[in-house]
Amino acid sequence: MALFSEGIRSMDDLFMHTLEDIYYAEHQIEKALPEMIGKATEAELKRGFEKHLEETRGQIKRLEDVFQKLGQEPKGTDCPAIDGIIEESNEIAGEIEDKRVIDAALIAAAQAVEHYEITRYGTLVAWAQELGLRGVVSLLQRNLKEEAATDKKLTNMAMKRANPKAAGKKSVTPARKAPARGRKTTTRKAATGKTTARGSSSRKGTSRGRRKAA
Ligand SMILES: [Fe+2]
Ligand SMILES: [Fe+2]
Repeated sequence: MALFSEGIRSMDDLFMHTLEDIYYAEHQIEKALPEMIGKATEAELKRGFEKHLEETRGQIKRLEDVFQKLGQEPKGTDCPAIDGIIEESNEIAGEIEDKRVIDAALIAAAQAVEHYEITRYGTLVAWAQELGLRGVVSLLQRNLKEEAATDKKLTNMAMKRANPKAAGKKSVTPARKAPARGRKTTTRKAATGKTTARGSSSRKGTSRGRRKAA
């Protein structure tokens, strides 16, 4: 989106221009997702992309409701930013030979898209509130919420499986200890409990540490 395009004179113009920008972006994402579904290797990631394709179609419908409430015909405006993000992700995924790395690359690309959408919807919600466009705020907020939830799910999938797999690790779940002789049942229970607790707290610790560092 060119924020300083000709024809943008007021905040209303700015709002409409950004609405047309995200409308165009959602259509491009709708076209790009089937290819990402086809490339994903993990069933959970495929399902996640399929679900988001459905959500994207619903988001387009909501945007059309926003246009309608504002008395405007739905239309898109070229957005070189989303075109660039999608083009780059296609190039990267096309170049990867090692199948174990593909999901990590797809998630990274999808998160770049989600973050773009989050920034656009965040802005539109704030501007709609400022302009007193009450009827459209909740529609835009619903789209924003779905994008944020998708981004979170992608982070979880990357941390749990795709990234360790891409890095050549066989499993992220710590291996269970072999039970000690003669105390089979109790030892196994204790070992399982210990392993799980230690695994989850160390993962949490890592992500907290990363958030802090970021
Ligand atoms: Fe979207
Ligand atoms: Fe999205």
